[in-house]
Amino acid sequence: MIKPIIIAHRGVSHSLPENTMPAFERAIDFSCEGIEFDVQLTKDGIPVIIHDETIERTSNGKGFVKDHTLKTLRTFNFGVNFSLENIQIPTLEEFLQMLVLKKYNGLINIELKNDKVPYKNLEKLVLELIESYGLFKKVVISSFNHESMKKIRSLSSSVNLSLLYLENQFIDISDLQSIHAFSANIHIKDANFSLINSLHRHNIQCFCYTANTAPDIKNLLQHQIDGFFTDNPLFAKQIRDQERS
Ligand code: G3P
Ligand code: CA
Repeated sequence: MIKPIIIAHRGVSHSLPENTMPAFERAIDFSCEGIEFDVQLTKDGIPVIIHDETIERTSNGKGFVKDHTLKTLRTFNFGVNFSLENIQIPTLEEFLQMLVLKKYNGLINIELKNDKVPYKNLEKLVLELIESYGLFKKVVISSFNHESMKKIRSLSSSVNLSLLYLENQFIDISDLQSIHAFSANIHIKDANFSLINSLHRHNIQCFCYTANTAPDIKNLLQHQIDGFFTDNPLFAKQIRDQERS
């Protein structure tokens, strides 16, 4: 696989509404090497794909995801920021179904957005879904909530896990080792040779979020980064391929 791998952040979110089926379908059509998205739980305990804990920024509705049932969330349009109509919030299950149907072969990065709202049983529900769709080997689960990743490791010894770090957050390699982490997913401003080398020496990959401009992408290419998240994967691929040729 060519490195760094390019991961569509919330789907192809620079031109379509983030974390929606159109943005994901576009990522599959573009043969993106990875797709990242965020998962939270509805009031009735259904895993849905959305970044914020509230729905104001991305829909014409109001309130917290945790306070709406799936049925009420389905009444809101998540295409408003792109003047699209009838774009519903996706459930994790329907997205996984689509990935299987389309035989998607890239990396599937499920970020659990449970660092602000502690969703009960989110870990177990997500594991059950990826297992039931046979996607265990293609999935990486990540979170800023490191306790939640420890919980997942106690439920599954083999699923790929990544710890997410905020900008400037201290990275303790022993935390990553203790859950046999696949990668450390760091803020773009924290990418440096000494950190990346040290992760590699411990057999841990390093992914970076979020690179959208040419200088940022070129800068990451200078480092031995394993992958990065971008809202515009075609643009990123063009730059990577130019620099590599
Ligand atoms: O998973 C990488 C990146 O998505 C983390 O930040 O805020 O875009 O979810 P955020
Ligand atoms: Ca995310």
